[in-house]
Amino acid sequence: MLLTMNPHTSASSSNYSILRSFAAISLAAALAFSLTGCGSKEAAEQEAKQAPSPSDLAQNQPETHGTEVKSVELTTPLKQDWVTAGKGVYDMKCLACHKLTADKLVGPGWAGVTKRRQPVWVMNMILNVDMMLEKDPEAQKLLELCMVRMPNQNLTPEEARSVLEFMRSNDGEK
Ligand code: HEC
Repeated sequence: MLLTMNPHTSASSSNYSILRSFAAISLAAALAFSLTGCGSKEAAEQEAKQAPSPSDLAQNQPETHGTEVKSVELTTPLKQDWVTAGKGVYDMKCLACHKLTADKLVGPGWAGVTKRRQPVWVMNMILNVDMMLEKDPEAQKLLELCMVRMPNQNLTPEEARSVLEFMRSNDGEK
């Protein structure tokens, strides 16, 4: 490098600071790389699971903007394929914290949840949990009780709806 050939003593200290800033830059670059590496792996996994649809795009928006569920239509009898799909989601993403009985695990047991809550409330608890914990008094009470914030499970609206159907089935609806 040109600078190392500078005979003046001040050169070594400026070299040192240049080296330091190089180190800082490469550290920042490594960090940025590892972050994007992580993100793109997740993205790839997501893509492998299902082709992107408009609902996936909506889901990637900040959850308080545009994804708040305003109405849910329930039909009787239950849609059995949704119940099955919802059970699959439950096994993978909810079972670690929620029992199907009334017993609390990390979160409340699901027995009776569709009787004590409006469908819209349940849907937003699944899809917009941060918004609910910030704004909804009932959700805040649960947080006080459980002392753990439910992490957003990144479900699509369709997956969330199928879990609701599974909850209805768990509560004895046919
Ligand atoms: C890491 C633990 C954890 C996981 C995983 C989890 N939850 Fe929760 N859940 C909680 C906690 C804790 C609460 C209570 C609110 C709080 O403290 O944030 C809660 C509350 C809820 C409630 C409200 C229950 C009630 O009695 O009113 C619903 C509905 C719910 N979760 C649905 C789900 C669904 C659906 C999934 C899976 C897709 C899921 N949760 C995954 C921890 C979890």
